Formats: sequence, structure tokens, C-alpha cells
Amino acid sequence: MSTPAAEHVPGLAPAGGSAARARGLTKAYGSGETTVLALDGVDVDIARGRFTAVMGPSGSGKSTLMHCLAGLDTVSAGQVWLGDTEITGLKDRELTRLRRDRIGFMFQSFNLIPTLNAAENITLPMDIAGQKPDQAWLDQVIDTLGLRDRLKHRPAQLSGGQQQRVACARALASRPELIFADEPTGNLDSRAGLEVLAFLREAVDSLGQTVVMVTHDPGAAAHSDLVLFLADGRIVDEMRQPTAEAVLERMKRFDVIRAQFDGESGDGSGPAAVGAGSGEK
Ligand SMILES: Nc1ncnc2c1ncn2[C@@H]1O[C@H](COP(=O)(O)OP(=O)(O)O)[C@@H](O)[C@H]1O
Ligand SMILES: [Mg+2]
Repeated sequence: MSTPAAEHVPGLAPAGGSAARARGLTKAYGSGETTVLALDGVDVDIARGRFTAVMGPSGSGKSTLMHCLAGLDTVSAGQVWLGDTEITGLKDRELTRLRRDRIGFMFQSFNLIPTLNAAENITLPMDIAGQKPDQAWLDQVIDTLGLRDRLKHRPAQLSGGQQQRVACARALASRPELIFADEPTGNLDSRAGLEVLAFLREAVDSLGQTVVMVTHDPGAAAHSDLVLFLADGRIVDEMRQPTAEAVLERMKRFDVIRAQFDGESGDGSGPAAVGAGSGEK
């Protein structure tokens, strides 16, 4: 499709091997004068077996992009594929099954069931689906995540980092093709956050997973292979082999634009803080 001479478009992989893909992905909330265009014609390829981070100012559409790519939300226009399957237009039941079979989720809140122990939480989605875990795989996930001696503990008996590792193991348990993580370190202290990032990295490097992670933390993004930058519902830039410093510099430029805009509109609220621990909702 693309010619070598053509200028590279941020977010698009040169050829094939996409775990997920979108073309013209548009998502509007509300209607009439109150319409919010959360995604504005996004074209993106999520490379298989890679760790992709999605960054951008609060409200730029990161969560919406993740939800639409994962089939958790409907789209207003455009197409989304998981592997070779177009999910836009699938019936609810087909979509639910495909999501269950191919995708793992991690959220900022760990969403663990307090009355179940770690082992039970990890296999809960598979138990609900009536699927039998591949024990060898499950053992590998549990050991990779260092959860072997915590399996009998309930969430309240685990640290935040351990709880998120359980959530990570739950996302990996069914050996999904694709893991979506929305601010998975957002509720963790920096050390626990680092553990989770190291494990996501490990899932990609050792277990061959594909990970898409939304984050507002340049340090977290630096663990990825590729950062996609979103602004106003569009992918405006990308960065390969990111470092925390380079990502922070790139994020500052969003703030400069925003500060200029605020200045022009006389809003005077100033730029939002960027970086680890900034106050995104
Ligand atoms: N359920 C919803 N109803 C109405 N507007 C929404 C809804 N979800 C998100 N939005 C709006 O869409 C835009 C993008 O939101 P979101 O994807 O959550 O951004 P981010 O994750 O980058 O902070 C924001 O303006 C947000 O207010
Ligand atoms: Mg969000």
C-alpha cells in the first residue's frame, strides 16, 4: 500500500503483522451542539509482539482509542480489525466471544474480587467462560509474575503492586493475542509501578505477547517499543525506542501549544502538569 518514498505516517506500520488495526476510526459522544469528537479519523496499526504505549494530554482520546480497538465500545465511523477479523459490524455475541478469546485487559483499578484469592481471581474470566486454563502456560505466567507464594492470598492481603500483578496474570491467563492496559501503574507507587512495567515488558519479550498501554507517565512509556502520541482525537506523532527524557520533551510541546491556546482564549489556567504523578483523572 505505502511506497518507500512516501513520508511515514505516525501510527502506521510499514507492512502487515498487525495485532489490531483501525482505519478512519471516529468516535463521537453526545449529539448536536454537545457532541464531543473523542476520535477523529484515526488510522493505526498495532504491531504484533510489540509493546506500544499511547500518550497524550488528558481528554485526547487515549481511553476511547483503547476501548474501540478492544471492541469494548462501538465506533461512530471507520473500521477496526483484531488480527484479520473486522470487529466493526460484528454482532454482540460474536464480539463478546472474540474479546474473550483474544484479548486481556488491565485497568487502573485492579478490579479484583475481594472474596476470591489470587489464584481464583486469575482464572475467574476463564471459569466464567467455562474454559480450562492451559496449566503449563498459567504456571509460566504465575512464575514470571512472581506470584507463586501469593496464590492463596486475598486482594486485601496483597500490596498494590502485587494486586496489579494478579490483574496482569488474569489478563494473561487465557493467553490472549493482545493485552490492553489503561494506566495500569496509575494507582501504584513508583516501585510497584516499575515491577508491573517490567512484567509487561517480559510478557512481550519472553512470552511473545502484544501489549498496548495507555499512560501519562514518560517513565512508563519508556518501557515500550513505540509511543503513539494523541492530541484532540488524532495520532499526531510517534517515537521509537523511547526514553523518558525524550518523551517528556515531546509531551512538553503539547503543553506549549495548550498554554498558547489558553493565553489566546484568555482562559489563564496555564498549562497542565506533565510527568510522573501528574493529576490525570
Ligand atoms: N462516555 C462518554 N460520554 C461523553 N464524553 C466522553 C465519554 N467518554 C469520553 N468522553 C470524552 O471524550 C474525550 C476523550 O476522552 P478519553 O478517551 O477518556 O480521553 P483520555 O483517556 O485521553 O483522557 C474527552 O473529551 C472526554 O470528555
Ligand atoms: Mg483515559
